Amino acid sequence: MTRSEHPWWTTSVVYQVYPRSFADSDGDGIGDLAGITARLDHLHRLGIDVLWLSPIYPSPQDDNGYDISDYQDVDPLFGSLADLDELIAQAHARGIKIVMDLVVNHTSDEHPWFVESRSSTDNPKRDWYWWRPARPGTTPGEPGAEPTNWGSFFSGPAWEHDEASGEYYLHLFSRKQPDLNWENPEVRRAIHRMMRWWLDRGVDGFRMDVINMISKELPPRDGVVPTAEHDGVVPPGAIHGDGGPFFLCGPRIHEFLAEMHAEVVAGHEATLLTVGEMPGVTVEEAQLFTDPERHEVDMVFQFEHVGVDQGDSKWDVLPLRLTVLKESLGRWQEGLAKSGWNSLYWNNHDQPRVVSRFGDDDEHRVRSAKLLGTVLHLHRGTPYVYQGEELGMTNAPFAAIDDFRDIESVNHFRHAVELGADPDQVLAALRAMSRDNARTPMQWDASPGAGFTTGTPWIGVNPNHVEVNAEAEVADPDSVFHHYRRLIELRRAEPAVAHGDFTMLLEDDPVVYAFTRRLDDVELLTVANFSGEPVRPDVPGLDGWLGAELLLGNVPDSTGPELAEWEARVYRRSTG
Ligand code: NOJ
Repeated sequence: MTRSEHPWWTTSVVYQVYPRSFADSDGDGIGDLAGITARLDHLHRLGIDVLWLSPIYPSPQDDNGYDISDYQDVDPLFGSLADLDELIAQAHARGIKIVMDLVVNHTSDEHPWFVESRSSTDNPKRDWYWWRPARPGTTPGEPGAEPTNWGSFFSGPAWEHDEASGEYYLHLFSRKQPDLNWENPEVRRAIHRMMRWWLDRGVDGFRMDVINMISKELPPRDGVVPTAEHDGVVPPGAIHGDGGPFFLCGPRIHEFLAEMHAEVVAGHEATLLTVGEMPGVTVEEAQLFTDPERHEVDMVFQFEHVGVDQGDSKWDVLPLRLTVLKESLGRWQEGLAKSGWNSLYWNNHDQPRVVSRFGDDDEHRVRSAKLLGTVLHLHRGTPYVYQGEELGMTNAPFAAIDDFRDIESVNHFRHAVELGADPDQVLAALRAMSRDNARTPMQWDASPGAGFTTGTPWIGVNPNHVEVNAEAEVADPDSVFHHYRRLIELRRAEPAVAHGDFTMLLEDDPVVYAFTRRLDDVELLTVANFSGEPVRPDVPGLDGWLGAELLLGNVPDSTGPELAEWEARVYRRSTG
């Protein structure tokens, strides 16, 4: 492929906004569209190309907008369609594209489709969702009578009993998020129509929520309960069965995505971006999803690298093993080298803050935040920056369960404690892993509401906003903000960053992350010390590199063979 044939998004950087927590223009404590529009210059200064907007649609807000009750409007909490049109126009005027969140594995239970569907067993929309009778030989509504033993991602069973009809509906997430039945062609057509409506309105693509869950293997069957041999019925107190094998990358997933591409995207490929969020996706599957010849999606969000510090569940928190992280990211780089494309991320609205997770959010916060940005952005793929990551925002010091807002966290605490877990231990896991860490208000300045709101914020502001905030960082040329700005600039200026091939070095080194990129006669070396102790990296030919051009670093005037604590450098040389 010649350079001019590369799709535009291979040289782009995406910035994710979680509207509820970004900027509140009307003082109700919740971020809104007008707030985002008013802050576009911050994003423009940072240099990003695309803004991905987490859901702003009408919603009961059971899962902060990932439970949608109307796909073609804006929740009054966030403003109006006119406010969205204005945001799109203002973003476009700055050369920033807008990608919408597309949440179509499920709707809200308050969506008119579901309201109709549950109204009677012979309603024409009954089949738009997954309705099933109770397990044979059980009493509907009794524990264990669920059609399968699957657990929901937000604790408890994945089936909800409907008193009126005596049947159950499937909800892989909360009971207010019933799963749509993609086997039904009318469902698919309605979604395609809705997507085209958004494209006509001027949006530039879609981030597709848990899109690899839309095809389920039929008939739904019991999953394995890790604890014991069983007959499918989950014993009281036991955990649920794993339904993943029946709904992750199910039998018709490629067909559904190819159809969606043909119905919605075809003809607009040159301007749009599609990215599928795919928990549990493997490199082999991702090769298929992102192979341009197959016309499915441009790239996927995979989850392996954000699972390297977890044991049996996300609440089983382990220390980072750098070799495992490198093995995973390196394998993805290799797997999508020939065709397909990687998306690169540390953070989003579901992940704890990376500087607290893989860096040092205390003494070396600034330096380790820069290191993490450097390592990620120098990989091959499209980098995603989550709001506040460019400031080195940290996890929040949540004191008690009442400080949390997220349905996943709150449900987990309740269920785990009910099953006998020590509340302090559950809280410790929440502090490390809760999605609320990503959702505390964006830190714009040192004022009491952090410049996010003049009212009472819906979730507490991190007290460290007095030091960690956009106003201070924009004014400081050595800040995390300016480092991210330089990384984004570098991707544009140096073709090897976007398009060079990738070679991992020092795979077994427990603290040094090092790799090269090469395009034609240009070679780049990234070398980073993931530790609080100085280290002399054992990079082959390091002496030669030390004389090369230093493109970027995070320790001023450091050029010798030793890397300081959390130091990262990027070198460039031409072999031509
Ligand atoms: C993935 C989203 O990123 C997450 O925030 C949400 O809770 C689930 N999908 C359900 O929509």
